[in-house]
Amino acid sequence: TNRIFIPEVFFTNNCLTGEDVIKSTRVLGELDGIFGDRQAFDGMDKDQVIYQVSSYLPVLENTPGGLFMGITTLYPGKVGSEFFMTKGHFHSNSDRAEFYWGVEGEGMLILMNEQREVWAERIFPGSLHYIPGKVAHRVANTGYQKLVFSACWPSDAGHDYATISAAGFAQRLIDVNGVPTLV
Ligand code: F6R
Ligand code: ZN
Repeated sequence: TNRIFIPEVFFTNNCLTGEDVIKSTRVLGELDGIFGDRQAFDGMDKDQVIYQVSSYLPVLENTPGGLFMGITTLYPGKVGSEFFMTKGHFHSNSDRAEFYWGVEGEGMLILMNEQREVWAERIFPGSLHYIPGKVAHRVANTGYQKLVFSACWPSDAGHDYATISAAGFAQRLIDVNGVPTLV
C-alpha cells in the first residue's frame, strides 16, 4: 500500500513512499538568461512549464556515500530556434560523476568540461550516459513529444548552477533546417 508510481516512469519500488519523492517544476520565467534569443523569450508565456523533476532522496543531502535518483520530464518546444533545455550545472563537489539514461522521447545531452569544450550525446529510450566529474551537463528536447530521462548521482554531489548562470555553455543546440546542431 505504500507503493507509489513515479510519474511517467517504468518502475515501481516498494521502498518509495510519497515523502521520499520531491517534485519540482521549472517554468520558462525561471530560465531567464539561459536562451540566446532574448526577443523570442520576451514574447513567450513565462508560466509555461518547461520541465519537472521527481527526485528520490533516500538520505539527507550532502551525506557521503549515498545515492540520489531523479526522473526529469522535459517538454518539447523552442525559444526562437533553440530547443527547450534544462538549466544545466556542474556539481558543487566538482569531481562527482552521474549517470543519465533515456526513458521516452528524444533529445541531446550537452556536456562541457572546465576547459569549456562542449560535446553532445543523443538521448533515446534505453540510451545510457556516463557524466564524469567536472563536466557540466544539460539536456535539450529535440523531438515533438515529451522527453523523459532518469539520473543517478552521489548524495554529496550538490548543484553549482551559478557557474552556468554566469558564463553559460560555450555552444548552443539550435534547430538548423530541422537538424539539431551545436553552434
Ligand atoms: C542531478 C541532475 C538531474 C537534473 C535535472 C534538472 O544532478 O543532473 O537530476 O537536476 O535533470 O536539470 P537542472 O538541475 O540542470 O535544472
Ligand atoms: Zn547533475
